[in-house]
Amino acid sequence: MKKSFFVVAFACLAITVVLTGCRHENTACDDAQMRVFVDKLMAQMTLEEKLGQLNLPVTGNIVTGAARESNVAEDIRQGRVGGLFNLKGVKPIREVQRIAVEESRLGIPLLFGMDVIHGYETVFPIPLALACSWDMDAVEQSAQIAAREATADGICWTFSPMVDVCHDGRWGRISEGSGEDPYLGSRIAEAMVHGYQGASLADSATMMACVKHFALYGLVEAGREYNNVYPDDFHAFNEYMRPYKAAIDAGAGSVMAAFNTVHGIPATGNRWLLTDLLRGQWGFRGFVVSDYTGLEELQENGVCSSLEQSAIQCLDAGLDMDMVSNGLVSLADAVRGGRCSMQQVDAACRRMLEAKYKLGLFDDPYRYCDTTLRKSVILSDTHRAVARRIAGESMVLLKNDNRLLPLSKRGTIALIGPLADTRPNMSGRWAVAAVPERYKTVREGLQDALRGTGARLLYAKGSNLMYDAQAEAIATMFGREMRDPRSAEAMRAEALSIARQADIIIAAMGEASEMSGECASRVNIEMPDAQHDLLLELAKLGKPIVLVHFAGRPTVLNWETDHLPAILESWFCGSESADAIADVLFGDVNPSGKLVVQLPRHVGQYPFSYRQYRTSRPNTGGGFGKFSTCYADVSSHPLYPFGYGLSYTQFAYTNFYLTDSIMPLDGKVEAHVTVTNTGDRTGAEIVQLYIGDRVAKGVRPYKELRGFERLTLQPGESREVVFTLDADLMGYYEPYDLTWTLEPGEVEVMIGCNSRDTQMQLLKIK
Ligand code: BGC
Repeated sequence: MKKSFFVVAFACLAITVVLTGCRHENTACDDAQMRVFVDKLMAQMTLEEKLGQLNLPVTGNIVTGAARESNVAEDIRQGRVGGLFNLKGVKPIREVQRIAVEESRLGIPLLFGMDVIHGYETVFPIPLALACSWDMDAVEQSAQIAAREATADGICWTFSPMVDVCHDGRWGRISEGSGEDPYLGSRIAEAMVHGYQGASLADSATMMACVKHFALYGLVEAGREYNNVYPDDFHAFNEYMRPYKAAIDAGAGSVMAAFNTVHGIPATGNRWLLTDLLRGQWGFRGFVVSDYTGLEELQENGVCSSLEQSAIQCLDAGLDMDMVSNGLVSLADAVRGGRCSMQQVDAACRRMLEAKYKLGLFDDPYRYCDTTLRKSVILSDTHRAVARRIAGESMVLLKNDNRLLPLSKRGTIALIGPLADTRPNMSGRWAVAAVPERYKTVREGLQDALRGTGARLLYAKGSNLMYDAQAEAIATMFGREMRDPRSAEAMRAEALSIARQADIIIAAMGEASEMSGECASRVNIEMPDAQHDLLLELAKLGKPIVLVHFAGRPTVLNWETDHLPAILESWFCGSESADAIADVLFGDVNPSGKLVVQLPRHVGQYPFSYRQYRTSRPNTGGGFGKFSTCYADVSSHPLYPFGYGLSYTQFAYTNFYLTDSIMPLDGKVEAHVTVTNTGDRTGAEIVQLYIGDRVAKGVRPYKELRGFERLTLQPGESREVVFTLDADLMGYYEPYDLTWTLEPGEVEVMIGCNSRDTQMQLLKIK
């Protein structure tokens, strides 16, 4: 029974493919074939088998949530599983797929998903860092390489891109997104989807994307993980919703529901969100998966009192796949008892089967299980070279007094800090497929760069991450232990004696990679105490210090900015970051990254964004001004603005003009600016276009990004950059009816090298 169906079905399909040549292209003819195929398959399925397709248990040894015991193999045989996640490697995946295909009644293949967030074994910068490259080709290429490696290892579905816009550095998951700006976040969301999914999922080197976390997770109150969110629709649509929509418009095959509530209803069981908005208004045609145990958590939210009730609500809301809760799979009695609709089960099952169809799993369930690919594809030299280039592009040079950087490869260099020689820490938090033993530490990267130059590299750890061992244990979970048993005094003395022998000090310090990411919210986002004290002592030596700063979030760097001549924000830039850090420090790469989150002066400024909406009591300088919006004890401006980053060369912006000072509502005007490399090194500049709508029905920000271009210029070279302005580009979702609008009035058009340093021209809209 079970095989005969597929033998016949596959044969029919094969003939159709040859005859029509349109298999898997997104055409109407293909959709029709898919419908026929799925109809036939569903006609064979029992209610239990349909519910089985909606079930995504966890397996494998990669921990991304609380572990669950279950007999997954037996469930697969019984048709109670639609997919698995976080199982790594072709061999285990092939074996599990074999059980599904050969030992279940209908032999329906499984989906294999994974958190392939910023690369696979070749690890790219954490998303927050990658975004700082503002390089959409690089973003797309990183996703493409991640897909190539993951699919060569059995994975066909990734839980990425994470596109949650966030204005709060306390939230650990700010590291997983593209920062605070919805326009940039949308462009990155599109690039990621294109990178993962390619032109067609029929290509076995592409995998299905999953946009997450839908929706508004980046707004968790007080930056506290898993907390509630309270946006109004006006701000939700103008800021937070836009990257999800961009990813959907780019063709993302799946969406993950967020843990939080939206309009007071958990996203996982929110019909307005998953059906009315996502499918109704946005036309999404893929499937929606819950987050890890998201379905059963409706009970914690207090909106349901049993697993069955949660499952009924989620299915009704438009959820198709249940990660880990085992709720949807248990709905058979509810369907039979009339408490849950069979039509909804059918709709969800259809979407799951369609996803498998699009991925080609019905053509060949083992198409992602080619054992010969690993050697040539995964962590290949070519991929590593790309990752090294992109890592270099993602770091942000925050400070460089007297052109201390780049360093020459001469003399004695002291490398100091608890993050200088920590291998497991290099790749960053969300790299579950990483193989840290194959990555270099900063120390090794610098050693390699200096080999044969005669320069001497000395090293001392100098301090632990922080004084409190228990706090350090939390900050280095998941096997990234690095605590040194020596006393703080002994470690510091060693570091100071090494520093005294050196001409220059490189301090590799900041956060460990586990200090950001899921469930890593923090209210102290300054340099951890032990490291701060060490820096203080090092600074007293009077030698030049370069801080190579590691972080998965925006941090407060006031003291460092006041006391150190050079600061490189190196984030966590992936498997090749050690070499990339050396490339930047020694000038083989000219830094070009620009901040996608502004850096605060104080944690109390959060939530905080450069996209400040006009208030009734404005404050221009950021300082204290009675009865204006400000703080009495700290500037309301950031320490480093959004879009900021230095280069080893300089750029001049001249000849900024608009082709017309008046634009009809349905017209277009161009903004031109000439950018010149006035320094003596080739460098890349990110030219940024902001607008500020002076008069609109809904209150708008003083400045919001609406365009950018990354260009590389030789010394002395100039290039004209042109942005086309129209209502599409400059509009916003107006209050209440939320239609995209541009109203008559005046718009400030601003161009510059960051969000603070801009030139302005006024455009009248008629
Ligand atoms: C996270 C998701 C992730 C999932 C599966 C959850 O805890 O919120 O981002 O994709 O686990 O690992």
